[in-house]
Amino acid sequence: APPHGDDGNDVAEERAIKTIVIVIAMQKEAIPLIKKFNLSQDMNPVFPKGVPWIRYHGIYRDLSINLIWPGKDSILGVNSVCTVSASLVTYASIQALKPDLIINAGTSGGFKAKGACIGDVYISSDVAFHDRRIRIPGYDVYGVGARQSFSTPNLLKELNLKVAKLSTGDSLDMSPEDEAYITANGATLKDMEGGAVAYVAYLLSVPAIFIKAVTDIIDGDKPTAEEFRQNLAAVTIALDGAVTQVVDFICGKSMSEL
Ligand code: ADE
Repeated sequence: APPHGDDGNDVAEERAIKTIVIVIAMQKEAIPLIKKFNLSQDMNPVFPKGVPWIRYHGIYRDLSINLIWPGKDSILGVNSVCTVSASLVTYASIQALKPDLIINAGTSGGFKAKGACIGDVYISSDVAFHDRRIRIPGYDVYGVGARQSFSTPNLLKELNLKVAKLSTGDSLDMSPEDEAYITANGATLKDMEGGAVAYVAYLLSVPAIFIKAVTDIIDGDKPTAEEFRQNLAAVTIALDGAVTQVVDFICGKSMSEL
């Protein structure tokens, strides 16, 4: 069965996609898309009072687009990155909006040994964790939490995006233990949200895809934080171009046509 195949859900697979949720962790990544799709901030929030999560919404062609940004930490003023926020906003968005498809878009580190270059945009075929190490039978596999994303063969044929595996953890840097798990996961890409979004999408049986653009080379010689900050603006342009292409491709299609 397909990863998100829900045997009772054939009808949903065949009708045109109506509603999508795009989960984006950082404001800088989100702003150009909000402009491009002419989205406006939800003034009647679907989320609990007091949370920083922000929904931007609009109708683009035939699609109801919801861009969800977890917002800024209310005390520190930084973007609410990492897996905890990502899983919460994904859960709340699915409950409130019942999307046909989740798109998690963001930046990632990439391994040059696996062919990644700064500015490359990938669709992740598989997502797993590298910092949930539980060396007890059963829990080991649970911790890694490997899942396939929704398969999109036609989209990949049409758009010029690379395909690779993604590994998720809650740190920007990489410990030797992380590295061993990333290698075991077969990952080309490393991010801080994908695995969490994949988990919630799987829990609630909503198909999910992952669009990740490379801001830094993990197996290079530059310090990650510096390289990330230097490249963020330029790479965001590539990321948003790819998200726009994917959304344009999705318009008017059913899940089974992706
Ligand atoms: N996002 C961008 N670069 C990253 C990296 N190297 N690790 C985790 N998340 C990232």
